[in-house]
Amino acid sequence: MKFNIAVLPGDGIGPEVIEQSIEIIMAVGEKYGHKFILTEAKLGGCAIDAYGEPLPSETLELCKNSDAVLLGAVGGYKWDTLPGNKRPEAGLLGIRAGLGLFANLRPAVIYNSLKDASPLRSDIVKDGIDIMVVRELTGGMYFGDRGRKQTNDMGQAAYDTEMYSEFEVERIVRLAFETAMKRKKLLTSVDKANVLESSRLWREVVLKVSADYPEVTLNHMYVDNAAMQLIRNPMQFDVMVTTNMFGDILSDEASMITGSIGMLPSASLGKGTLGLYEPIHGSAPDIAGQDKANPIATILSVAMMMKYSFGLDQIASDIESAVCKVLDKGYRTGDIASPGSNVIGTKMMGCLIKNELLAL
Ligand code: IPM
Ligand code: MG
Repeated sequence: MKFNIAVLPGDGIGPEVIEQSIEIIMAVGEKYGHKFILTEAKLGGCAIDAYGEPLPSETLELCKNSDAVLLGAVGGYKWDTLPGNKRPEAGLLGIRAGLGLFANLRPAVIYNSLKDASPLRSDIVKDGIDIMVVRELTGGMYFGDRGRKQTNDMGQAAYDTEMYSEFEVERIVRLAFETAMKRKKLLTSVDKANVLESSRLWREVVLKVSADYPEVTLNHMYVDNAAMQLIRNPMQFDVMVTTNMFGDILSDEASMITGSIGMLPSASLGKGTLGLYEPIHGSAPDIAGQDKANPIATILSVAMMMKYSFGLDQIASDIESAVCKVLDKGYRTGDIASPGSNVIGTKMMGCLIKNELLAL
């Protein structure tokens, strides 16, 4: 089969982890006889430098006309002082919204050979962690009305609005129930319904949708409790569904308990099969260009692309197996290293995974 992939390396370590992921895509093409046509475009800081805006219309058009989008990371010190709507991050939000990608799947899985890398005690992670965070991606506080105003006696005030419609909640919650049906049939909806009106509506919609999924065991959990439970007993979770803001925070937390944020991929999906695939980590400007970044999160994002956009499930699990094999042999990038492990760089990690894949 033939697929068009838009590639957006972005900033910081983005280009390095993307380079290794392209190697994997090429290896997949070679091994399984698919044709992947890759077209690069700019997003984020590099686009600001080249076009004066974080999401040039060419980039959005290219993505709209592709079968999938692979993204590295955006942002860096250089652009940190720009106004909010001109920052690299605005490009990322713009592309998520522009492609209608309302659902963000962030799987937090602990690999057997990486249990030592988890900051949690071994008795807490002993039976493994396998959580799918389903984060709403095009609504809530990220996209609500925001601004500043001058008050009479308290200086400036600033506000960001959390607003969700029934429609927005229902479509993400349905996707989460469907995801749970394919897993352990356990869904935790995370909100702050003891305080926020938007959360109360969220909860009502979850309850309504749950009637269509009698086989799924549903829990509601307040976000503060969920943050605590993720550390206390992460094995209790299967699928978690939550808002854009809470999902941003909880997915970073979930990633860290698996060992490193450098391991976690993500898929952003909408109505059709077009998806955007990116590591959940940022651009890590402090280690950019030093061959230190872990390319695994991006390589696993390629696996998610094969599965969710192209329906190539076997290839997705082969990529995952190749990653496991390299980890089982003791190779580690710095972020997942423990005393005595064999520390290698970005390029070598990519190369070893590719070789394992080709040898499968
Ligand atoms: C993420 C990131 C982004 C977000 C930033 C870079 C805008 O943290 O993908 O989790 O907040 O969504
Ligand atoms: Mg984040």
